[in-house]
Amino acid sequence: MIHDDVEEVLLTDAQIRTRVAELGAQLSQDFDGRDPVLVSVLKGSIIFLADLVRAMEIPLSVDLMEVSSYGASTESSGQVRILKDLSRPIEGRHVVVVEDIIDTGLTLNYLLRYLRDKGPASLGICCLLDKPARRLAPIEIDYRGFTIPDRFVIGYGLDYDERYRNLPYIGVLRPSVYGASAAPE
Ligand code: PRP
Repeated sequence: MIHDDVEEVLLTDAQIRTRVAELGAQLSQDFDGRDPVLVSVLKGSIIFLADLVRAMEIPLSVDLMEVSSYGASTESSGQVRILKDLSRPIEGRHVVVVEDIIDTGLTLNYLLRYLRDKGPASLGICCLLDKPARRLAPIEIDYRGFTIPDRFVIGYGLDYDERYRNLPYIGVLRPSVYGASAAPE
């Protein structure tokens, strides 16, 4: 069972559900009458996005992007490759980027510049998890679910080697799963 590889449950599904409902209510209030586009980045964010939009009661659209990092050597530049672009123009639209986790902030830093160039009316950020300890690029988060410590978390969309995305809670991966020598990034 996938649960056996979890060392500790950091956020229960009930805690997540409550917080997602609060975020949804806040977004509904702030974007009432603005027909926002919620843009998520595959793959980790889809679980959060799916729950968040169902906690919102205003008309909205969703769009999905997929990006890949150029690799360790260029990581500090935050250069990412767009594998899947937006399906519709966002010029003049109110855009909220929905992310599962902000870690170094490099992915989002690049993405924000990319999206800003497309001329949205506004550009906000909603993330479920904020891990500020590892931040390399400053990011202003408008809607934050939880601030978490610098531990390797899995579940509710987040993976280790593509596994564990289907855990209904956020957990800490047992070090024996990845070998105690090197914590995964
Ligand atoms: C995660 C997450 C963010 C990024 C955050 O995606 O969804 O996009 O990492 O990291 P950063 O702040 O250090 O840039 P990941 O690359 O693990 O892909 P996945 O969503 O497909 O698992």
